[in-house]
Parts: sequence; structure tokens; C-alpha cells
Amino acid sequence: MQTELVKASAAAMDRAARLLAGGELVAFPTETVYGLGANALDEAAVRKIFEAKGRPADNPLIVHIAERNALEPLAASVDASAAKLMDAFWPGPLTLIFRRADSVPAIVSAGLPTVAVRIPSHPDALALIRRAGLPIAAPSANPSGRPSPTTAQHVYEDLVGRVPLIIDGGPCLVGVESTVVDMTSDTPAVLRPGGVTVEALRALLPDIAVDPAVLAPVREGAPTPSPGMKHRHYAPRARIIVVEGAPDRVAETVRMLYARADAPAAILCATGRVPCYPGLKTVDLGADAAEMAANLFSAFRMLDERGIAVAFAESTDSSGIGLALMNRLLRAADFEVVRA
Ligand code: TXA
Ligand code: MG
Repeated sequence: MQTELVKASAAAMDRAARLLAGGELVAFPTETVYGLGANALDEAAVRKIFEAKGRPADNPLIVHIAERNALEPLAASVDASAAKLMDAFWPGPLTLIFRRADSVPAIVSAGLPTVAVRIPSHPDALALIRRAGLPIAAPSANPSGRPSPTTAQHVYEDLVGRVPLIIDGGPCLVGVESTVVDMTSDTPAVLRPGGVTVEALRALLPDIAVDPAVLAPVREGAPTPSPGMKHRHYAPRARIIVVEGAPDRVAETVRMLYARADAPAAILCATGRVPCYPGLKTVDLGADAAEMAANLFSAFRMLDERGIAVAFAESTDSSGIGLALMNRLLRAADFEVVRA
């Protein structure tokens, strides 16, 4: 299969809409990460997503819509709490899980009785959904297990030959995926932290829970509300080791581990921490947690390009967007954490 990489334009949207209507895949930008989309109502088209990504069949997809009224045919019920969150955060990086309506093929939700839906805020994503006139099922546009793509070039490197069209809408500004909130239980629960912070959600729904799997490994065989949590995720080829503790102890420990490493090593840290590592290979993730989250996945890719075998990542504060950052780091590290 030929893969075309085109800048977002009216002509590109026309071509993308035709491909989607014909049951083909299209990769497109969102404010979080690039998505690999198919018509959510076409079972055969959705199956192609799983094939192109090598995605485990038990990991459900998010359905992207452009208007609130497009939710009605997808969700069997929408309560007042969900309406509050949608009013506040849609369009934006928030995915809500509802009971699935019969019109949504089971494959979209990997057979679960629920469905995940969001309205992205990226203008190109909205234009594509509107032009196609369809709900679009889309996971991140990376092969399963790889870091999510935050540029069209990442998608091209990962999926060339497996998708006919990639729409380039520039780099993703949020850079980590949407926050996933389960609205089907009595107490809504955050299953995956992301672009909308838990603090912002709690300002509207104070009782919202955070699934323990957000910052901890899922035990073998334990039931998980979000199947995506149990797979090793967001990982570069390089081994990632998270180092946590008091800042000066962390620097000391990282310098020691780096010196002992018997393979090419690097250090992932905030801008303000780079001076702690004179003469060592550092990757500056950014000045604050938002910048660090936006840069994390491209930093992972850079490690691989530079042949880094092991990277020591400084642990950061897990408030605000820091929770999404630490969730991605810990999963990329497969929960290998050194306490300084
Ligand atoms: O920001 C995003 O959410 C991006 C862009 C493309 O929109 N999409 C994305 O999709 O990250 P994906 O497939 O990489 O991650 C979807 C997550 C997975 O952890 C999956 O298990 C969970 O959402 N999920 C989807 N449907 C679910 C459902 N019905 N019940 C529980 N978890 C669900
Ligand atoms: Mg993904």
C-alpha cells in the first residue's frame, strides 16, 4: 500500500472523507496525539485499525465526534454528571465512557458493553469528522506498544505502507492522550490521566475517583476497568528507569547510575535540572510539567534514534498534568523505579 502524507487542506479533507466512507483508514492530528481513524459504524473498517496497529483485540477504541448531538446514537444513556463534564471540557482532551448503544459495532469496544467518546478540539480533526459526516473510531496512530505519535512524521515512520493517507496538522500541543473517565459506575472514575487534569474534573465533580492502576502496575489476572492499562505502553526501545526522591539525592543517584551504565545512557529531566548533570547526555523535556508532557513521546523516539540503551528519568510531581506525565513514564519504565 502507498502512503500519502499531505498537509491539511480542504482537498485533503475531501480525499480523507472519501477513504473513510469507503471503509479505509486515515491518520489525522488531534490536540493530544495523532489518531488512526476508521468509520466507527463499519465493523470491517474498524478491524483494519487493529490489524494496522497490531493492537490486542481486547483493547477498545475511542469514538471521535464533532458535535454533542452525534453522541445520542452512540451512548445508551448520558446522565447529568456527564453533561457537566461535556459542557466544561468538550471540545478537548476528555474521553467519557458510556453504556454502548446497539448502533455501535461491538468490535469498537472490544466487546465491552460500553463505548468511549470524545470531541477533539484540533480544527483539522473537527473538519475531518464533519466532512466525513461519520463518528470516527481512532486509537493513537502508533504500532501497539510504541510511543504515541505527536507529529505526522512520527506516524509516517511507524505506519508507512499500512495506511493510505496521513494528514499533517503540525505537532500536537498537548502531547499526551486524553483523560479517560468512566461515567458508567455510580462514582465516575479516571481510568487514564491525560490532557484534562483530575483537579479540573474535581472542581466540577468533587467525588470523582482515580483508578489505582494510574500510578501502579496492574496485577496479573486482576480485573481492569480499562483494558489498555494492562499492556506495556508508550515505550521506546531504550530501557527507562525512573528515579525518585529528594531532588539533590536524585541527582546524585542518577549520576552514579549513569557512570555505572555499561551501554549508551541518557538522562530525562526538566530544563531547570539540566545543570545537575554537567558533561552527561541529557534530554531537556521542558520548563514545566505541561511542556514536559508535550515533549515526552518525541523524546522517547529521540532516544531510539540516538542509540540510547538506558535512560534515567527524574520523577516529577504528580499534580496537575504531572499525573499524566508520571503515568506515561512509569508505564514506559514498566514500573522500574529506583528510590534515591
Ligand atoms: O487522546 C486520545 O485519547 C487519542 C486521540 C487519537 O484521540 N486516542 C487514544 O486512543 O489515546 P488509544 O486507543 O491509544 O487509547 C484509548 C484508551 C485505552 O487505554 C483503552 O483501553 C481505553 O481508552 N478505552 C477505550 N474504550 C474504553 C471502554 N469502553 N472502556 C474502558 N476503557 C476504554
Ligand atoms: Mg495508544
